[in-house]
Parts: sequence; structure tokens; C-alpha cells
Amino acid sequence: MTQPAPQTAPAEPILTVNNIEVIYDHVILVLKGVSLSVPLGGITAILGANGAGKTTTLKAISNLLHAERGEVTKGTIVFGGEEVQALSPNDLVRRGCIQVMEGRHCFGHLSVEDNLLTGAFTRRDGNAAIRADLDMVYEYFPRLKVRRQSQAGYISGGEQQMTAIGRALMSRPRMILLDEPSMGLAPQLVEEIFEIVRKLNEDQGVSFLLAEQNAGVALRYAKYGYILESGRVVLDGDAEALRNNEDVKEFYLGVGGEGRKSFRNVKHYKRRKRWLA
Ligand SMILES: Nc1ncnc2c1ncn2[C@@H]1O[C@H](COP(=O)(O)OP(=O)(O)O)[C@@H](O)[C@H]1O
Ligand SMILES: [Mg+2]
Repeated sequence: MTQPAPQTAPAEPILTVNNIEVIYDHVILVLKGVSLSVPLGGITAILGANGAGKTTTLKAISNLLHAERGEVTKGTIVFGGEEVQALSPNDLVRRGCIQVMEGRHCFGHLSVEDNLLTGAFTRRDGNAAIRADLDMVYEYFPRLKVRRQSQAGYISGGEQQMTAIGRALMSRPRMILLDEPSMGLAPQLVEEIFEIVRKLNEDQGVSFLLAEQNAGVALRYAKYGYILESGRVVLDGDAEALRNNEDVKEFYLGVGGEGRKSFRNVKHYKRRKRWLA
């Protein structure tokens, strides 16, 4: 007799980063053995201060480091069962892995709609399918439908972030690497954007790896988080456990002791965190 299938199979990873080292310009060691994984259908966050190595990690995954004179010198990255080092960034997009860059890069001189359409450049399934996905993007982002003929250079920061995410959706991704979606946006818009991330995850099954300095919002939407400091993962865990961790509260959520304080200032009088002890 065959065994019954287990009720809850362990979540299989769509992405596995195993002990990678990244060096810029042949000498600048930035990532010093980073490991992480994203389960299929998961939302995972990489948290850390400016300069921690979040963007470098995402670019290593989407194979965009060459343009920055950066190189993965150790370790492996596997997306959907394939090593990414053997693939070009476009190959990766075709396989469903796409990055939304920090600073919400849009083509400022193009309309919102043309920006969205540039996201379909790797597709070969024809215009009808692409138009259908454009309608789907407008359903998720009704603001973009209103603004579809506007030049992207003149829309608000929040609308540009939506355009950047919408453009990524046009490639029919299985996983989106989202770099600092909250940066420079008012809290209400940040919430709006993260709600859409949650909806895309729930309705379309898109997996997300988010890089965020804003740990508070990221840990409300992600299921799992990794904290990166100076190119190393210093702590990882379920989002809820991280939210309740005293050090995370103090250093990343600004709620420890006497109210809100900056991570940088705290560092001066408290040199060693508990996870370094
Ligand atoms: N192209 C580059 N050449 C050299 N150093 C870089 C380059 N890009 C980033 N760095 C350095 O790598 C470190 C990590 O940067 P980054 O990955 O952008 O961090 P984060 O996204 O967490 O702010 C920083 O010290 C930064 O100065
Ligand atoms: Mg960054």
C-alpha cells in the first residue's frame, strides 16, 4: 500500500541563496556569506540599514551585478531549480524572476501605459495576451488606469512605484524582487502598495523578496525576515518572532526604551547587540 500524502508538505523554496560572497571592483567585499530562501508563494523580507547589502543581494539574484562591476565569488543561487549564474538577466525574466529597482525607475519621457508595455518585452505570446495583462494591472492599480496617458516623469512618487511594479507584472513573474518599495513615500501610500503586494501574492501566487529599511511595515506583510548587517545575516525568523524580538524592536522598529530612536544613535552607546554577544 502506498503512503498517504502528507497533509502539509513543507513549503518548497522557489529561491535558495547559499552562502554567497559578492565583491565589487575585484577588491571590495560586500556580501560575506549570505544565505536565505524564499518559499514558493511566500513573502520574505531582507531588512537592514542603508549600506547593509540588501540591493547587492537582490542584484546578485537577478544577475545584474556585472553592470556594477560586481561579482558573486562564492556560493550558489538557485531559482526554480536552476543556477542563476548560468542565465542572463533576460533569461531569468523569461523564467519568472524579475527585479523592481530601488528608486522606482520609470522611463520619464514615456507614458505610464508605454512604461507598462516595456515590461512585456521578453514575451512571445502575442498582443492579445499582453493587452489582457495590461487590463489586469489596471485592476490592481486603478490609479494607473486614470494616469495611463500621463508622462511617467510627471506622476507622483507613489504612482511611479506602482508603474514600476506594474511593469514587472507585465512579464508574468513567478517571483518579484522588490527593492525598497516604501522609500520616500507617505505612510498611507506605503500601506496601499504593500496591500497590493499582498493581493498579488494571494490571488496570483507571486512570491516576493522585499528589501526594506522600513522593518515595521515589511514585517507586517512578510511571513519571514532576514536581518542583514554589513553583508551578513545576523538574525532571521518568522515575521512575528522578529517583531517581538527585543533587539529588533530597539534597533529596527524604534520602539524600545524611551520611544523612537535612530539605529545610528543607539549604536554609539550600545555597541554590542545581543546577537553579537
Ligand atoms: N557598484 C558598487 N561598487 C562598489 N561598492 C558598492 C557598489 N554598490 C554598492 N556598494 C557598497 O556595497 C555596500 C552595500 O550596498 P547596497 O547593497 O547598496 O546596500 P543597501 O541596499 O542595503 O543599502 C555599501 O557599502 C555600498 O557602498
Ligand atoms: Mg539598497
